[in-house]
Amino acid sequence: MRRRHVVSAVVAVFLCWNVIIYLILMLRHPGKVIPPSMELDILDTGIQNQLKQNLALLSKLQSLRNETGNKPKTHSPIVLPDRKGDVHDLSKVVLPVLLIACDRVTVNRSLNQLIRLRTTKEQFPIIVSQDCAHKPTAEVIQKYVVTDNVVHIMQPNQTNMELNKKDKKFLGYYKIARHYKWALDQVFLKFNYSTVIIVEDDLDISPDFFEYFSATYPILTSDPSVWCVSAWNDNGKNGMVSEEAELLYRSDFFPGLGWMMERKTWLEIGPKWPITFWDDWMRHQDQRKDRVCIRPEICRTSTFGKKGVSKGLYFEKHLKHIKLNDQFVAFTKKNLSYLMKENYDPWFKRLVYDTPEVTVAEVMSGSKKHLKALRVTYTTKEQFKATAKKLGIMDDFKAGVPRVAYRGVVSFVHHGQRIYFAPKPDWQKYDIKWT
Ligand code: UD1
Ligand code: MN
Repeated sequence: MRRRHVVSAVVAVFLCWNVIIYLILMLRHPGKVIPPSMELDILDTGIQNQLKQNLALLSKLQSLRNETGNKPKTHSPIVLPDRKGDVHDLSKVVLPVLLIACDRVTVNRSLNQLIRLRTTKEQFPIIVSQDCAHKPTAEVIQKYVVTDNVVHIMQPNQTNMELNKKDKKFLGYYKIARHYKWALDQVFLKFNYSTVIIVEDDLDISPDFFEYFSATYPILTSDPSVWCVSAWNDNGKNGMVSEEAELLYRSDFFPGLGWMMERKTWLEIGPKWPITFWDDWMRHQDQRKDRVCIRPEICRTSTFGKKGVSKGLYFEKHLKHIKLNDQFVAFTKKNLSYLMKENYDPWFKRLVYDTPEVTVAEVMSGSKKHLKALRVTYTTKEQFKATAKKLGIMDDFKAGVPRVAYRGVVSFVHHGQRIYFAPKPDWQKYDIKWT
């Protein structure tokens, strides 16, 4: 539309110019007989002038076209401008931490880190919610109540659920869901906080854990498509992430494991909270409603909970290989507005689909090592799973969404090279049948 306007303007200017030249010639020499040599001179100057003007117009047109966006923009999430004119005074935002505990006396390991790394107890008050009525664990927590203003609350309902035979083995997941419901009601309905950071009693945290959540708070509260900020990257194993500690993403997959949510979200999902498998329930489209979480390239939590409700196999295979970030990124000094949907989507699409497409064999052989990043395409569920296995990334889906995916794209590092494992560029939506 804009281009057509410019073209019409050029044509109009060209016509006007001809009319003006004609009039000037006629007025200068009205009725005079001009010798043919002079006539030729006048004509020559006219042509020369016209040529100059056309060239000037042409270059103006070209610069206009570049401005209107046909040239690729060089956005990068890695080189971020410093935060300027920030509207949020982030040091005033109160972000309570809810620590979910049960019967592990090692809860002190998590508590020590939270207390050592928080800036102030006013900005990051800690509430430990304890299930299981385990006395030795309660005693450990109690010590922090006196010395560090930690609030210790106990989930009162310790009855055993009535479960049929095949669900009995999932009793732990039922109890966890019940505990979460009660604890989050306490945070939002009793203590009246407006946001919460939820952690579990087997999580280590990175030095910039609090900095990360503070800085992403304005994104959480101002972008309606963001419903959570998570410290977790499901493909965040050693060797599968880059060194870009400040790199963040949008993710359609709810990662949990150290995450922040707003009160308004709890008021929406709390009343229909499930009786079990709360995290998979949140991943369902009925709850998620196309909303996303912010997640980091390098995890800001890792788990030391080898013995837990889910058995140790998952821990041995995946969780123990997660790389915990060890640098402090001054996120609150950075401009994170690139994570807002309207900025992120066009940029991310270009980033992924401008990347050269290769086969998985080419990735594995290292024959494209000279390229900075590579894109591998998948079109079917089977192809996704087989390729994911080869490349060593998580191969499962929840509600049709692959772990860490944004718009179907899974970003990770393979032998030092950035890989975008992506659907075709015309991707529209997830297929819930992919399980
Ligand atoms: C896994 C998830 C966890 C999620 C849970 C429920 C990982 C690494 N962990 O738990 O984030 O919340 O599934 O889907 O993927 N707990 C209680 N009451 C109980 C038992 C446990 O409140 O009766 C608490 C624990 O203190 C802990 C949390 O629930 O904070 C998770 O328990 P854990 O034993 O660590 O189970 P995971 O298998 O890690
Ligand atoms: Mn655990």
